[in-house]
Amino acid sequence: MNAKITATAHYVPERIMTNLELEKLVDTSDEWIRSRTGISQRHIVAENEASSDLSTRVAEQLLAKRGISAEDIDLIIIATVTPDHFTPSTAALVQLNIGAKNAWGFDLSGACSGFLYGLETGSKFISSGHYQKVMVIGVDTMSSILDFTDRNTCVLFGDGAGGVILEPTDSDNGIIDSILKMDGSGGQYLHVPGGGSRMPATIESVEAKQHYIMQDGKKVFKFAVKGMADVSERILKRNNLTGDDIALFIPHQANKRIIDASAERCKISPEKVLINIDRFGNTTAGTIPIGMNEAVENGQIKDGDTILLASFGAGFTWGSILIKWESN
Ligand code: UT7
Repeated sequence: MNAKITATAHYVPERIMTNLELEKLVDTSDEWIRSRTGISQRHIVAENEASSDLSTRVAEQLLAKRGISAEDIDLIIIATVTPDHFTPSTAALVQLNIGAKNAWGFDLSGACSGFLYGLETGSKFISSGHYQKVMVIGVDTMSSILDFTDRNTCVLFGDGAGGVILEPTDSDNGIIDSILKMDGSGGQYLHVPGGGSRMPATIESVEAKQHYIMQDGKKVFKFAVKGMADVSERILKRNNLTGDDIALFIPHQANKRIIDASAERCKISPEKVLINIDRFGNTTAGTIPIGMNEAVENGQIKDGDTILLASFGAGFTWGSILIKWESN
């Protein structure tokens, strides 16, 4: 039994941080950020706003759009690398906030591929036949792990969340295929060294800025283009599809140049590629569901469309998912 997406929603914090603001914090320029990444601005949480708050806004919208009550939800999966706490899980906080009394849930750590990992996981629960309504949310409050004195990272990321409700379908539509990958040897190139059991927080570790995200951008860039393009090409091929058959390609939004290169390799024409990195930056697990909801709201996705999702991120983690859209 396939899973289909019956509702989409997203939420980004109100505050916008422009490239010009970043020019005042680090040695960078609006021109460099736009031309090297495609980013013009990003949204940043208010003081005291965290991943569960963004996720709760998404969850509330999902319930309203689908016209169901929180008690109808069986399972909540939250993909994030910036949970409010190590424990309790962000899923437990959202469950409490929305009053999903009949749900259990968990957080899933897949970095920029977290939403795709979550979608695959959620769809398998639906396929089991034991679950009717699964909420999958991708959220990251990247500003909580950004060093705003490091120009290599602070210009790239933003905060945001998006999500979906998954339900069973009797048809062959919905989530029809997935390829998910991981290669731990890439972990060193994009990581947060401190704060976990390997390096618990100490005054020294905090002073050494070990709790911030660190990236070897050049290295990640190379793997990202290859990783995203390889799985996207493979999933098209094994479903006897070409880029022409894709109504919309929704790639992870880390860098416009990575997106363009992946789309070109899959022969997907630029007007069928969703780009919103200019407005949101890289929201990690948030990028794909934010893009998906914008596309649904703008009428860019219709029933019957074949939609390709692709991601690449820390771990390394990467993957692609193919959806034959059927909303109800
Ligand atoms: O979502 C998770 C996966 N992450 C990614 O996919 C990110 C992948 N990597 C990238 O997107 C790109 O590598 C970056 C956007 C991070 C960097 O772009 P790049 O074209 O690879 O630049 P670079 O690192 O090769 O740096 C080029 C120059 C360097 O100066 P020199 O050595 O040529 O004098 C950097 O120091 O640009 C400099 N630079 C900056 N200049 C102004 C690096 N960051 C900045 C900055 N503003 N923010």
